[in-house]
Amino acid sequence: MTTTSNSEQTQLSLAKLFPANFLWGAATASYQIEGATHEDGRGPSIWDTFAATPGKVYQGHNGDVADDHYHRVDDDIALMTRLGLSAYRFSIAWPRILPQGHGDVNPRGLDFYERLVDTLLSKGIQPFATLYHWDLPQALEDKGGWRNRETAYAFAEYAEIVARRLGDRVAGWITLNEPWCSAYLGYGNGVHAPGVQDRQSALDAGHHLLLGHGLALPRIRAHVTNGAQVGITLNFTPGYPADDRPETLRDLARYDAFSDRWLLDPIVRGSYPEDFFKNMALQAPPIEDGDMEIISAPIDFLGVNNYTRSVIRGTEPAPLADACQMVAPIPSASYTEMGWEVYPNALSELLVRLHKEYALPKLYVTENGSAFRDQWGGGEHVHDPRRLSYLQEHLQGIVRAIEQGAPVQGYFTWSLLDNYEWAEGYSKRFGIIYVDYDSQRRIIKDSGLWYADLIQKYKEEQ
Ligand code: NOJ
Repeated sequence: MTTTSNSEQTQLSLAKLFPANFLWGAATASYQIEGATHEDGRGPSIWDTFAATPGKVYQGHNGDVADDHYHRVDDDIALMTRLGLSAYRFSIAWPRILPQGHGDVNPRGLDFYERLVDTLLSKGIQPFATLYHWDLPQALEDKGGWRNRETAYAFAEYAEIVARRLGDRVAGWITLNEPWCSAYLGYGNGVHAPGVQDRQSALDAGHHLLLGHGLALPRIRAHVTNGAQVGITLNFTPGYPADDRPETLRDLARYDAFSDRWLLDPIVRGSYPEDFFKNMALQAPPIEDGDMEIISAPIDFLGVNNYTRSVIRGTEPAPLADACQMVAPIPSASYTEMGWEVYPNALSELLVRLHKEYALPKLYVTENGSAFRDQWGGGEHVHDPRRLSYLQEHLQGIVRAIEQGAPVQGYFTWSLLDNYEWAEGYSKRFGIIYVDYDSQRRIIKDSGLWYADLIQKYKEEQ
């Protein structure tokens, strides 16, 4: 007699609920995994500079070695094959391609990503390339970075150089990853590189990031010969009301515009949310004629990154849009090591909202995952039951969204590997594969083994 465990039953029923050709993926980003920051002609990025600035990153950690992926790319692709992934989302380091940000191209940079893409394809894994995941060439920051409109044009030039080389092979192009973070964390509150603390600069940077995205779209498409799709990835942390007082509903709307609509509305609707600048008590960014048309050119898909939600409680007088009061901790809720509440309904309801209110052609969940304090005893296993439940519950949330019509066609868990978690250094582990940073040994965690089994069952159902 065979017995089926709960977890196997969940896998079996889940596998049946996803649509045909659903992409099962994992995601990473260049600075977080590659290391080799001084090799093969790579120029410095704002994260090299920021990490070297005392007090900015946990224990001064930097990306010089990270997961040493630059040298271990074949082994890492072998792990993806072991997991059965059908897609892999990685990012291309702008300072490897253009060490000065524009001008002279470094051929060894392009060679590295070409080899990565070719190896993925040879294993049947679809490459999803993000062109900007936060590692801006320092030379461009020296001229103002994203506060400078010229950076948008430099980005479009860089995007075209990469697309010219890989436009016949990459399956999905993502212009920017989480421009909200680049703009607000980078230039507003300064917790990320380049560490500027000036809210007006954040709005200006946000506009130039969007412009860079819009300018890059046609220049990428001009070189796509394989039917690849081109989109952008935004981060969403949906707000929920703590109570039903009118001031709570007012503040919730302000929070929503700041957190989830500031950069989405221009892309999909061609305009910033109403009263957004007023509710920030700032000037509008320098919007030139034609910018909003460029920014709102149609995308083939929206990449959705979601980890948690925020619960908002209204206050008097009305706060600025980025100062709405969040309730934390929430009694009885469970939290990850990042201090983020585990709330799978947020992802589910977000996907439905994007479908109903924004009518997007296609959605990919390009990031979703959790950091927990994993322990490795030196053996073959890493037990991570809380990450496993998080993964299951969020996949079930995606199924609920699909049942309500949301056109979700793929899921990329964050992250393939434990890696450099920005200002948190190596202290937070998000991987479904454990990395022992001393030996660079990789061990697939229980969550990764479960994911591999789910993918296997899904493929058997097809
Ligand atoms: C957002 C970012 O895209 C990624 O780089 C980061 O590591 C994860 N979310 C977790 O914070």
